[in-house]
Amino acid sequence: MKKKEDILKNGPIPAHVGIIMDGNGRWAEKKGLPRKEGHQAGAEVIEPLLDSAMKIGVKAVSLYAFSVENWSRPVSEIRGLWSLLEYFFSEKLELIKSKKIRIIHSGSLSKLPPKTKNVILKSIEETKNNKGIILNFCINYGGRQEIVRSVNEWIKVRKPNEMITEKKIGQYLYTRGLPELDLMIRTSGECRISNFLLWQCAYAEFVFTDTLWPDFDEDSFYKAIGEFQKRERRFGGI
Ligand code: FPP
Repeated sequence: MKKKEDILKNGPIPAHVGIIMDGNGRWAEKKGLPRKEGHQAGAEVIEPLLDSAMKIGVKAVSLYAFSVENWSRPVSEIRGLWSLLEYFFSEKLELIKSKKIRIIHSGSLSKLPPKTKNVILKSIEETKNNKGIILNFCINYGGRQEIVRSVNEWIKVRKPNEMITEKKIGQYLYTRGLPELDLMIRTSGECRISNFLLWQCAYAEFVFTDTLWPDFDEDSFYKAIGEFQKRERRFGGI
């Protein structure tokens, strides 16, 4: 069992952690439950995870809750996810506010049901001045789409003959102002990035764990941090 104190003396703490919360469906199937119960159990993991992240001084957590590719799932599952998001952003909002968490969103909300969109926008608005950890919810998000969008946003203000630069792309990403992504975690044994934070993960460390997302507890999180602390990050140097 890794403790906060061990983690803090072990090495650097990642400023920004991205998480691909995978394995809800398999978690439910293993228990003979409908998939939606896996998503429900997955949603309950988020708030304790933020507590664990705050305890060690992580500044931002980006969670992949729905990708642009997830629209290919059965409509009933998608509807269930919107209900779950509505539940999360309404029922947990007071708790989130009391912990000074700031919610931001990456992705496009335009195709979401109005009710879902509104609870998300309300949470963003009501937490915008909070100075605690940043919770970046990635909903209807795709990394490629984010980069294309960023370039298009820049084109709108482009001066004649001006060239695109890395800095300019960064300024129009959803994650502008957030610390660099240091650590990317994917649960459930899959070892791929699935269009998540493509630009941001250029120098991130990756930790893949077999644990299914609904089972991902403080111990699992601190193990991933411990793994990160063992890595030698050279950023292209020697
Ligand atoms: C991947 O598991 C998970 C998702 C596509 C959705 C992630 C959503 C949550 C963790 C809950 C969302 C709720 C809130 C409040 C954000 P999977 O369904 O692909 O699992 P499988 O690979 O085992 O089938």
